[in-house]
Amino acid sequence: MKHLVAPSILAADFTRLADEFAMVNASEADWFHLDVMDGRFVPNITFGMFIVEAMKKMAQKPLDVHLMIVEPERYVEGFRKAGADVISVHYEACPHLHRVLQQIRASGAKAGVALNPHTPVHLLEDLLADIDLVCMMSVNPGFGGQKFIYQTLPRIRKLKEMIEISNADILIEVDGGVGLQNAESLLQAGANVLVAGNSVFGAPDPSSAIRQLKAIEPVRTF
Ligand code: DX5
Ligand code: ZN
Repeated sequence: MKHLVAPSILAADFTRLADEFAMVNASEADWFHLDVMDGRFVPNITFGMFIVEAMKKMAQKPLDVHLMIVEPERYVEGFRKAGADVISVHYEACPHLHRVLQQIRASGAKAGVALNPHTPVHLLEDLLADIDLVCMMSVNPGFGGQKFIYQTLPRIRKLKEMIEISNADILIEVDGGVGLQNAESLLQAGANVLVAGNSVFGAPDPSSAIRQLKAIEPVRTF
């Protein structure tokens, strides 16, 4: 399957959000990646359901909503109603992860689990049948524009192997510090979805940055 590119709106210019959405709509991007932060699970605060609902009206592509919040189970239906197509919750925020994943699927959205850089991938081993997407954090969540953590590469390889062995249908998404400099290695390691914030919106020509990310053809080494 051809990999997907999901520009992270956190890095967009919020004073001209409609133009930024129009650019992504017209580009080769596949999804909008929306970062919801609550000031508790992560130090930063961004936006909630009300804004996601407004974004849904501007978006002509699926909304990939990354919840960096505590007690995400309280908001799953709300974000689904607001227009989320994929909802990812953090492993570290969910003592009852299995239940939350079922809740997300029951709402009609695809169920994602995000892993902080220190959370071992094998912790997902017994849950693979309940997961549609794993969001592998390649920075510490909370802010855009951080440096990519290289240890993510072997983590993706490990996860890919687990998924293949179990025959599960799961997308591996990489989130944080992704750009042209590391995209090929990420795809080679097994990533299916590239989230890109600053490397897209900080580029002189964002839609060409998206096109270049889409154009990468990784050489499969496994
Ligand atoms: C970080 C967010 C990321 C972030 C990526 O907490 O989850 O989605 O916006 O931004 P870049 O690509 O600039 O690192
Ligand atoms: Zn994110």
